[in-house]
Amino acid sequence: MRTSTPAQSPIYVTPVSSRIKRIILAIWGVLLFSIASQASAATVLRVADTQPADYPTVIALEHMAERIAELTDGELLLKIHPARQLGEEKDTILATIFGAIDINRVSSAPLGTMVPELQILGLPYLFKNEAHFYRVLDGDIGEEILAFMRPHGLVGLGYLTAGARSFYSTRPIRTPADLAGMKVRVQNTDLYLDMVRYLGGNATPMSFGQVYESLVTGVIDAAENNWPSYVATRHFEAARYYTLDRHTMVPEVLMMSLDRWNSLTDSQQAIIKKAAREAELLMRKLWAERVEDVKRTAANARVEVIEPADLQAFADAVMPLYAPFKENPVYADLIARIRRAGEP
Ligand code: GCU
Repeated sequence: MRTSTPAQSPIYVTPVSSRIKRIILAIWGVLLFSIASQASAATVLRVADTQPADYPTVIALEHMAERIAELTDGELLLKIHPARQLGEEKDTILATIFGAIDINRVSSAPLGTMVPELQILGLPYLFKNEAHFYRVLDGDIGEEILAFMRPHGLVGLGYLTAGARSFYSTRPIRTPADLAGMKVRVQNTDLYLDMVRYLGGNATPMSFGQVYESLVTGVIDAAENNWPSYVATRHFEAARYYTLDRHTMVPEVLMMSLDRWNSLTDSQQAIIKKAAREAELLMRKLWAERVEDVKRTAANARVEVIEPADLQAFADAVMPLYAPFKENPVYADLIARIRRAGEP
């Protein structure tokens, strides 16, 4: 009988709609589950670097991020914040200790104010050449120095090369005497304040991000850095004399917050170490290429490159910087071993 039809209609409709609902719910369930499981499985690590996105340190970090993602099957992901997005180096160092930043690439100079053993690596004219520098960083001494970071809440993952640092200025510097009366920006550490004072200049500690404007406005007359930084920051446009006195080889440090490190499994820690080592090696290649590249940029911009006739005069002037370190037996031993590593 058709009388049942009206009554059947909702019955008919109801099963269809509930089936659709069940299907939609099932699809949502699968989607939500996969989103939730991805969210709970992946740990995103915040990474800081003061340099711009196309700088070799950041490219090395990107490689590290890819390898970590690959080797952990997406469990650990790195979110890189270049170009001082997370602040100037001295602030990001504190943020890493407090765990607001997980991984940080910094110059060892500002870190050395906290971990003095790192300052040793940045002493002037310590390394004879690049091979000596790598032998020390790749060997026991390099590892020992990184280990001094632990009591400060930081895990040293490795070093990235930063070449040699030299002075650049708005007036030529050919001898230490030319630094007299010059205001020279240094990184925020007493070691380099003293270095410039011993050379006869007026040292001005300042964050990296303030240097360009300070050169342009005449707040400073000079600064010092490696070739890629001199060019990437466009400091060469404001200070067109680059004096290759190569006073220091200050390494960059790759480090991690100790709290975050402790929250990882042994296998995740091993993967991070492995990826950091790969980044270190990649960086050496990227660096060499970048130095050649930026030298061309500087030459096109008519930067005057000065090779000091008497490099020894620069070295002699800054030697008193070693005295306070040599009074401490641990530091004295490290310096002696580093020197020995440079002997043939
Ligand atoms: C280098 C280094 C930076 C550092 C800078 C400085 O460019 O890569 O990390 O901040 O020196 O002079 O402060």
